[in-house]
Amino acid sequence: ADSLQTEMIGSSFRIYDQVDSTQNVAHELVRQGCPEGTVVLAEEQTSGRGRMGKKWLSPKGKGIWMSIVLKPHIPLKQTSQLTLLTAVALCRTLRQELGVAVGIKWPNDLLVDGLKVSGILLESSGEDDRLNYVVAGIGISVNMEADDFPEELDGKATSLRIVCGRPLDRIQIIRRFLEKFEELYLLYLQQGFSPIRTLWEALTISLNRPLRVKTYNGWVEGTAESIDDNGALTVKTRDGETMKLYSGDIQL
Ligand code: BTN
Repeated sequence: ADSLQTEMIGSSFRIYDQVDSTQNVAHELVRQGCPEGTVVLAEEQTSGRGRMGKKWLSPKGKGIWMSIVLKPHIPLKQTSQLTLLTAVALCRTLRQELGVAVGIKWPNDLLVDGLKVSGILLESSGEDDRLNYVVAGIGISVNMEADDFPEELDGKATSLRIVCGRPLDRIQIIRRFLEKFEELYLLYLQQGFSPIRTLWEALTISLNRPLRVKTYNGWVEGTAESIDDNGALTVKTRDGETMKLYSGDIQL
């Protein structure tokens, strides 16, 4: 019962002590022809990447730093659906396994009481509107302690250990997450985005409350009521305009 119960996700598994970024390793493995479902894990990343050019702190042994290679046959513009799928799989795993009240902040941050415990970064490659492959990067602050976070993350980030009040078994979380991920990914390949969207909407903290969206000319205030078929957040701004967000940042 304690082994990994998946068929495709994790069929090829690479574990490293130290890498620059598991994303880079995964892209390289794709160039070498690795199969779909290849998982790359590292104890430590020296240049972990976050969204929008940010750094992702990845101290040795303190978290789960992981990338998964996927090769679904979908149009490029549906790639955001996979971001939301990854967030749903992780959110449900942490709720079920640890009983932690995690919520999803659009598009893919996992928060507990407003503090970030995990982030997801999707990097894709495609041509002629077809997705070629995607690397889904997952960072989870599992066993970090207050001292492990830099000052600028004060009041912004936390770890599962801090939230649960005890150190946690990373292997167990990885197994359960990969199983949940495979289950949802297969559902997605068979039935499309609609069941994933329903799950995402039930787990998010970003709908039906005031929020601010960062645009090219500053912050705009509004409310989001739904995500659309491609996974874009649909925001009604205060001056009655409707905006679709495919990526970017919001403030709640
Ligand atoms: C974010 O919230 O900005 C996304 C963070 C994603 C971090 C993970 S850790 C594993 C993978 N390798 C990276 O360099 N980044 C992702």
